[in-house]
Amino acid sequence: MNLKDRNFLKLLDYTPDEIRYLVDLSARLKEEKKKGIAHDVLRGKQIALIFEKTSTRTRCSFEVAAHDLGMHATYLDPASSQIGKKESIADTARVLGRMYDGIEYRGFGQEIVEKLAEHAGVPVWNGLTNEFHPTQMIADMLTIKEKLGRLENIRFVYMGDARYNMGNSLMVTCAKLGFDFVACTNQKYFPEDGLVETCRKIAGETGGSITLTDSVEDGCRDADVIYTDVWVSMGEPDAVWKERIQDLLPYQVNAKAFSYAKENAIFMHCLPAFHDLETSIGKDVHERFGLSEMEVTDEVFESARSVVFDEAENRMHSIKAVMYATLHGE
Ligand code: CP
Ligand code: NVA
Repeated sequence: MNLKDRNFLKLLDYTPDEIRYLVDLSARLKEEKKKGIAHDVLRGKQIALIFEKTSTRTRCSFEVAAHDLGMHATYLDPASSQIGKKESIADTARVLGRMYDGIEYRGFGQEIVEKLAEHAGVPVWNGLTNEFHPTQMIADMLTIKEKLGRLENIRFVYMGDARYNMGNSLMVTCAKLGFDFVACTNQKYFPEDGLVETCRKIAGETGGSITLTDSVEDGCRDADVIYTDVWVSMGEPDAVWKERIQDLLPYQVNAKAFSYAKENAIFMHCLPAFHDLETSIGKDVHERFGLSEMEVTDEVFESARSVVFDEAENRMHSIKAVMYATLHGE
């Protein structure tokens, strides 16, 4: 397997074997790090991290992973570069491509990261767009493999806003790996028809399936994994909160949803999560709408089923694997 010089923009571009390879490489790099075995094989290389939206996990993962691989990273924050305001993406790509060996982009439309990749001449990694969040997928699959011991015969249930970056990416990844993917949500939040059709075609080849349902009982029955994400994503207007809460509260991940799942089913979330009142947005929503927890109850979030912090740690190991594979090869 050699992924050198490839972009990492969305998992639709990767084969099931390539995805499994990146998961296994993440596990190997994780083990090496735990054992104190250095893997700074990319010494002297430079990467640029473009963030047009905020981040904790993704930014820190790229920075720590780059350092572990011997690289230096430059962070460009949402406000202080020329990107988009004074300089086009194509021009930015051609400038950064002269200075850096790889470029991460987090921002808005998928077409922006695709354009960056078209012009950069070096590998470009998608650190989240409105449509996809592919580095999160490798971390999530590593976490499932660690917790459930396999990456096959998984009934994977996604609750909440299934038509945005997390729902889309998970549906694609599950289809590629032959999982039974269920989007369990209000019909308004089902993934877009074209992507569902594409994923059904892929699932037809891998032995997986795609189900869309608005029944929590049917959706969560026999689940191995129940996954959710915030109801309002970065870049969406504040005005959508009221409708989202009304539409998605029935699809909150709570003890009732888990009562239909398998006994050893796990809870996953890409984070950050609104499960208590310890955030300013959480407090604001509480004042305006009276909710003290949103997409997941604090009970589930803090339970033994919840693997969210292992999942967060795995972001670093898997982002390291993506950079290693595309810059170093095997
Ligand atoms: N899960 C995730 O991408 O987190 P950040 O927004 O903190 O990077
Ligand atoms: N759907 C979320 C994911 C955050 C990691 C967002 O786009 O804000």
